[in-house]
Amino acid sequence: MNPTDRIAQLVEQLNEHNYRYAVLNDPAISDRAYDTLMRELIDLEARHPDLIQPDSPTQRVTSDLTREFPTVQHEVPMLSLDNTYSEDELRDFEDRIRRELPEEELQYVAELKIDGVALSLIYENGLLTRGVTRGNGTQGEDITPNVKTILSIPIRLSNSVPYCEIRGEVYLDHNTFDAINVQREKNEENPFANPRNATSGSLKLQDAQQVAERRLSFFAYSFRSPNIQLSTHGENLSYLERLGLPVNTNRALCNNIDDIITQAREWEEERQKLEYDIDGIVIKVNSIAQQNKLGATSKSPRWAISFKYSAEQAETVLKRITLQVGRTGVITPVANLEPVQLAGTTVSRATLHNAEELERKDIREGDTVILEKGGDVIPKVVRVVTAKRTKDAIAFEFPKNCPVCNGPLIKDESEVAIRCDNSQCPAQLKGNIRHFASRTAMDIEGLGTALVDQLVDNKLVRDVGDLYNLKLDELASLERMAEKSAQNVLDALEASKQQPFHRVLFALGIRHIGATVARVLSENFHSIDRLRDTHPEEIEAVHEIGATIAKSIHTYLNIDSNWTIVEKLRAAGIKLKSKAPADTGPKPLDGKTVVVTGTFSRWGRQQAQDLIRSLGGKPTSSVSGKTDLVIAGEKAGSKLAKAEQLGIDILDEEEFFSKYIREENA
Ligand code: IVH
Repeated sequence: MNPTDRIAQLVEQLNEHNYRYAVLNDPAISDRAYDTLMRELIDLEARHPDLIQPDSPTQRVTSDLTREFPTVQHEVPMLSLDNTYSEDELRDFEDRIRRELPEEELQYVAELKIDGVALSLIYENGLLTRGVTRGNGTQGEDITPNVKTILSIPIRLSNSVPYCEIRGEVYLDHNTFDAINVQREKNEENPFANPRNATSGSLKLQDAQQVAERRLSFFAYSFRSPNIQLSTHGENLSYLERLGLPVNTNRALCNNIDDIITQAREWEEERQKLEYDIDGIVIKVNSIAQQNKLGATSKSPRWAISFKYSAEQAETVLKRITLQVGRTGVITPVANLEPVQLAGTTVSRATLHNAEELERKDIREGDTVILEKGGDVIPKVVRVVTAKRTKDAIAFEFPKNCPVCNGPLIKDESEVAIRCDNSQCPAQLKGNIRHFASRTAMDIEGLGTALVDQLVDNKLVRDVGDLYNLKLDELASLERMAEKSAQNVLDALEASKQQPFHRVLFALGIRHIGATVARVLSENFHSIDRLRDTHPEEIEAVHEIGATIAKSIHTYLNIDSNWTIVEKLRAAGIKLKSKAPADTGPKPLDGKTVVVTGTFSRWGRQQAQDLIRSLGGKPTSSVSGKTDLVIAGEKAGSKLAKAEQLGIDILDEEEFFSKYIREENA
């Protein structure tokens, strides 16, 4: 078979297998067989790039990075839905419709309200040409490269409708969401609070490859086309299915509000079993003619409404209350629970926030409690089922001393938190070291929880300054460590000495000094010595800095024991100053137009562009005759090729780093 035909055949087969896998949930071949076909296609396309078809599955992930997303106007505004919370409000909705359409027969479609992110898809001649977020309802962001990575969204419809817009909801199922968070915790990144946040974060990623890894899913719920006009919403949904889109099968035709309420209650029961989050149901007038007669307000259509469910709850037994000591000494009571299923995950711990909350809700060990998942990852205890309380459940008494170091606990009048006042408390020290070593701070790989615990427990490290005096044999003698892993930790410590001053400032874990504030402080004061000697009022004069931050940094640096740590870091060669812009004179990239392409190990896209600006250069997105320099990371694609063609200077990440950054921060 000639390459043209074989490519066409492979594209068709792979798209069909993908549809069966991602939409029908009914794969016809093994993953391995799929990969073999895919590899053959990739291979053929590499040899015949001119034969690459627009609907080829290889086009789902384009190798180059997407830039800031262009804004586009929606042809028809993406409205939102009015919410109802009670049966009475639902009846009001029907009464309003009856008033508008007296004498008319009414039917409704009830469907699930998927808790995800709205998306509009444009197909031209059956081909996906655009994917746009809801944005402000009138304008959204064109995130087409990211949308193409969503396997259940067909790149080509099964019928080449000349033009249509399909809307629906992008979401993450529970398993995928959990897997993403496990990975994030491993990388010491903050976990996402819920699947909706994770979905929205994923859709905005700049690198389509990363979006593909998030394995997003989609349900279509609306169809509009000048070419095909059906008479009911139900018919539109069936038609969407025939076009190859995933449409949620939990939908029902209802004749009146009573039907709808029965349906809503039934689904509320079933909700626990779903693999994804829903936050209610949506009720839509079925007839499109009636929808048009009813029209819309500026915010929402009059022909549809949502009926929201309350947050999911579960009942279980609280076995024990334990106390956790945080990095800043704050004591958080934690409920250890009889494991229970809640909103798709097994829950065995819940936060009890603070002593006041514990007292207010009168939560006791042995109590049966109601849990709820709100906007946070960690579920909370809503209330105690007092009817089920046994006689021996006695009120929890908050200790007077720290459960870790036995130091006195204090309560600052200005806050609810109770904290351990001992700055030498091992729990705080461990937290501090973990923070110091974390990815966004000094990024010391290999310095994980188990090692930190041993370093503190064996008194090898009494503050973060001691980390830089660790010896190979000390490290190698610890549990689960060997010479090689010990050497890796020493290497990582050595490498961390290159971290810029603002990272060090953040890594110290001073209260109220987050990564952004640390950057602002570094840009304005340039050295830790100057920061120590600057009056809080002067610190506060900086636009982004408030009184609390100014006081916190000033106080911290003027405590002797803290300054001892700073001096240890200085002796180790850690950067305690940044270069003042006034000193730099002309900058190395002054007047140069620079294009960044591909991905980097040290910087995200935004950071790389900021870097170029700080070096005096002007970052732009496309390579042309006016480009002076291209910095090409991993997986650099067409831009790199073009730069080579035009004979433009090209540096890879290492070259760029050693030429411009290393000396810059020295
Ligand atoms: S219909 C005019 N149907 O809920 C509004 N919306 O405020 C048309 N949603 O963000 C929306 N599942 O993306 C509709 N089955 C469903 C839905 C649904 C989730 C989302 C929608 C929007 C929000 C409504």
